[in-house]
Amino acid sequence: MKSRLANAISIILIICLLCLLAGCSARPEGMEGSGDIKDDDLIVVGFSQVGSESYWRNVNSESMKSVFSKDNGYRLIFEDAQQKQTNQITAIRSFIQREVDYIVLAPVVETGWDTVLSEAKEANIPVIIVDRRVDVDDESLFTCWVGSDFELEGKMVCMWMSKFFNLKGISPDKIHVADIQGTLGSSAQLGRTKGFQEMAKMYGWDVVAYEEGEFTKSKGKEAMSVILRSHDDVNVVYCENDSEALGAIEVLEASGRKCGNDIENGEVMIVSFDGFNEEARAAVAAGKISCIGECNPMHGPRVESIIRKLEAGEQPEKLQYVLEGIFSDTSEIETVMISGQERAVTVITDKDL
Ligand code: AHR
Repeated sequence: MKSRLANAISIILIICLLCLLAGCSARPEGMEGSGDIKDDDLIVVGFSQVGSESYWRNVNSESMKSVFSKDNGYRLIFEDAQQKQTNQITAIRSFIQREVDYIVLAPVVETGWDTVLSEAKEANIPVIIVDRRVDVDDESLFTCWVGSDFELEGKMVCMWMSKFFNLKGISPDKIHVADIQGTLGSSAQLGRTKGFQEMAKMYGWDVVAYEEGEFTKSKGKEAMSVILRSHDDVNVVYCENDSEALGAIEVLEASGRKCGNDIENGEVMIVSFDGFNEEARAAVAAGKISCIGECNPMHGPRVESIIRKLEAGEQPEKLQYVLEGIFSDTSEIETVMISGQERAVTVITDKDL
């Protein structure tokens, strides 16, 4: 009996030793590298990502991971929040506890960050906000932000639509448009919806419905089905990202509708945002998506250059907007003029795929 107990204890001790040697001591999920995060000269960056809801998001995660590599002098702690703000708050608290050098946050929604960002400030850890914005009472709670002007993106797409309708002599009262919105409360949704609302009102379009699509293909499909059930006169669908657009096209085609520019002959015009999804670009080349407002996901190098500035003791600009254009299936409209600036329209053809 005694020798059996001794054997069991020896086995347990050997397993513990092996675990320690293999570096599988208690380490939080997403932690890259082994042992103490400060065991070398690497700059430690804790990144709380929204999730993996869209193709855009995956490209964005890759952009961050490829820049914040060991070879470039960084240790990246990457946490996927699965579209939940509570997961992001937990991740930020764990970054603070682990005393990372920088916190990078891509916030799922704008509000609700004051407390946790105050904790980061108290711990003296610079916070860089990327992609969407945070709405906080005290702007000193974050060091700076880099991302897109979502309202401007929305206005650019609407301006393209208006130019197109004018060119074809289609009067505004003939436009019956539905908006499939992104995750409610996110900057990308708030900005694109606001841009759309203002322009639709100004041009006099008939807005038939707003449905939430959460920036995913599956929810985009659900939203399109709901819209079609009560508004079969819809002839333009303003999708707040490409994933939703691809879902909407599937539903429209399954119901016997054709997606394209020729709305006077029964086609449904699809417009969208992002432009980095191969499937969506192919849909533009095929004439199924008429226009995409660019949303550039390559933020890794931008955030890295901010960190380099901070390391050098310099102060980065507080708000850094990325300049973006438009993708379309037609060369009939070459530019749109927005906020006094001309934005180029890039035509996507089969050759570009
Ligand atoms: O915040 C950027 C938006 O979020 C992109 O348009 C969308 O595809 C992503 O999920």
